[in-house]
Amino acid sequence: MRISFCCTGTKAQPWLEGLRDAFPGAEVETWSAGAPLADYAVVWTPPQQFIDEQTQLKGIFNIGAGVDALMALRLPPGVPVVRLDDAGMSVQMAEYVCHAVIRHFRELGGYEADAAEGKWTYRKPRMRQDFPVGVMGLGILGERVSRALAQFEFPVQGWSRSARTIPGVQCFSGESGLNDFLAASRILVCLLPLTPDTDNIMRHDTLARLQPGGYVINVARGSHLVDDDLIALLDSGHLAGATLDVFRTEPLPAAHPFWQHSKITVTPHTSARTLRDESIAQIAGKIAALQGGQPVSGIVDPARGY
Ligand code: NAP
Ligand code: GLV
Repeated sequence: MRISFCCTGTKAQPWLEGLRDAFPGAEVETWSAGAPLADYAVVWTPPQQFIDEQTQLKGIFNIGAGVDALMALRLPPGVPVVRLDDAGMSVQMAEYVCHAVIRHFRELGGYEADAAEGKWTYRKPRMRQDFPVGVMGLGILGERVSRALAQFEFPVQGWSRSARTIPGVQCFSGESGLNDFLAASRILVCLLPLTPDTDNIMRHDTLARLQPGGYVINVARGSHLVDDDLIALLDSGHLAGATLDVFRTEPLPAAHPFWQHSKITVTPHTSARTLRDESIAQIAGKIAALQGGQPVSGIVDPARGY
């Protein structure tokens, strides 16, 4: 068996070693143009040339949850594209989003600013029923985040393509459910996959439907959000703030206004990192299953785009 590794921006050696340990008899190599044909690919944002050259693949394993970069390529029909199925990401995402929600709700940024000036000042307690959180996307990450937020007794609602039932979460679905979902939310968390249907989904008219004093947390992809519309709604006062982990251009360019905006917190696409050992174990298990003719979870539906 031959496995080709083609992951942009990823240090290859530890992955190659982990995959070799999992498959001692296999050839596991970093891809370069003209490399021998492989049976399986382990990829992150590969170039089209990789897909065009590797014509014998029996499976393409993405070392992330989001497959938008792969879906933008011309892929061979019938070759399964497999996303990471959690692999340690959902707990990280729950930590990050709960932290952002609680930091906003408990005004911890304000307390830090006070402490920096040596001020011992109280703020009036806020009522959590006044801070309903809406989670867009109730998949592997969104469901975990919704459940975690519900543990803190925030009112939580979720929105997905198909109807879902999650204890403690009011679920909305489909285009017809979007406006009611937004109107019921003050804090909005985006955990959608990036597809033609979800591109620019956080724009002026949708964000304006959030309750006054709304707060945006984008942990999915930068292209879900129309940057200028967010800034306009922050500056008008309709929105109180935003925590953004993902951007249209990454790294976020130095001159981008998000860096300096007083109501925006920026982090460098770090809310749920790919954990190498967990990911290698998961991918190795799935390659073994495919080799044995067994079904695997996490196969992307190209028609849905996720
Ligand atoms: P997932 O399991 O595929 O779940 C996607 C959810 O979005 C599902 O609930 C799906 O609805 C819903 N959805 C898709 N299209 C929709 C539409 N048009 N309208 C309404 N709902 C729609 O994805 P995941 O694993 O939770 O990950 C979500 C995204 O997070 C990834 O695609 C990736 O871009 C991003 N991500 C970011 C980081 C980071 O570090 N910032 C890390 C990992 C992932 P159904 O339930 O009906 O299918
Ligand atoms: C990270 O953004 C991922 O999609 O896993």
